[in-house]
Amino acid sequence: MIVLGIETSCDETAVALCHDGNILCSEISTQTIHRKFGGVVPEIASREHERLLNEMVNYTINNSGIEKSKIEGIAVTQGPGLSGTLISGVSFAKGLALGLNCKIVGVNHLEAHIFANFLADPKLKFPFICLLVSGGHTQIWLVNGLKDYNLLGETRDDAAGEAFDKGARILGLGYPGGPEIEKLSEFGNKKAVKFPRSFMQKKSLEFSFSGLKTSLLYYVDEHVNICKEDVAASYQFAIIEVLVTKLKWAMEKTKCFTCVIAGGVASNNALRSHINVIMPDKKVIFPELSLCTDNAAMIAYLGELYLKKGYFSPIDFPIMPNMKLV
Ligand code: KG4
Ligand code: ZN
Repeated sequence: MIVLGIETSCDETAVALCHDGNILCSEISTQTIHRKFGGVVPEIASREHERLLNEMVNYTINNSGIEKSKIEGIAVTQGPGLSGTLISGVSFAKGLALGLNCKIVGVNHLEAHIFANFLADPKLKFPFICLLVSGGHTQIWLVNGLKDYNLLGETRDDAAGEAFDKGARILGLGYPGGPEIEKLSEFGNKKAVKFPRSFMQKKSLEFSFSGLKTSLLYYVDEHVNICKEDVAASYQFAIIEVLVTKLKWAMEKTKCFTCVIAGGVASNNALRSHINVIMPDKKVIFPELSLCTDNAAMIAYLGELYLKKGYFSPIDFPIMPNMKLV
């Protein structure tokens, strides 16, 4: 089956074509225009998707060497995400599905992040644990099969990506904050500043990062001439240590041997190395960086799985900005 995937949940405009589980072409355009505002401006993001989608779809199809008429289904992110940007993608996808007279399926963005790991390792088998760490979510899932997920724990306040983004803003770094903090941390000592870790008792799988952000704010306020590299490295390590410790606890609790990481924060190299240090005996899938951050390959791949099983959406399906996985 040939499925075209469209992703517009936030500030990445992405289009991909999937043919029987293989990605023929995957295009991502990151909207750099938001950097000067220090965060995503929803109205601008929606307009950028509108501006880019047509050209990116044509490019993806031509680059794949297939005829437009061979597309058998469209998969598009239905949620969660920003209302305006979701509407841009879903409206475009509906028009295309009507024009091509093919099926359309609305895809959950979080579920697609998890399933991106099958693109990284097609031999991946259920069940597995997924640490899902993005700009809006920090969750640990037990993934038993398609549409069969147990939430083991999640954040009570800020997501890990949000902690990176807010921390970067406090340190006067650019947006998105994750890559900025990671770059600076390479030159710093992660043990220089002792930042707090939350919910570390009784092997809890819940997370909280808002206290960490506040303590960074206090630290910066109370100290002059800080070594930004040391502070960034210590802050990053406070996030990573919590994520990896809880991932390990989740593996122990469920007796699972395989785990995967997903979402933008999963592209962090210090996180990846720490997982290897803490869980050397476990099978861990590390998807390539372009499969961790927002992309349409994961949307097309998951959409194809659903369409092949006969699931599709009615043409008037709504966007779901707060869409949940279960
Ligand atoms: O999954 P994603 O691309 O978009 C959402 O669905 O949210 O995740 C974006 C988040 C941002 O908060 C960004 O700062 C973070 O992922 N991120 C990183 C890195 N690259 C992106 N965080 C830490 N280290 C990175 N290298
Ligand atoms: Zn995402």
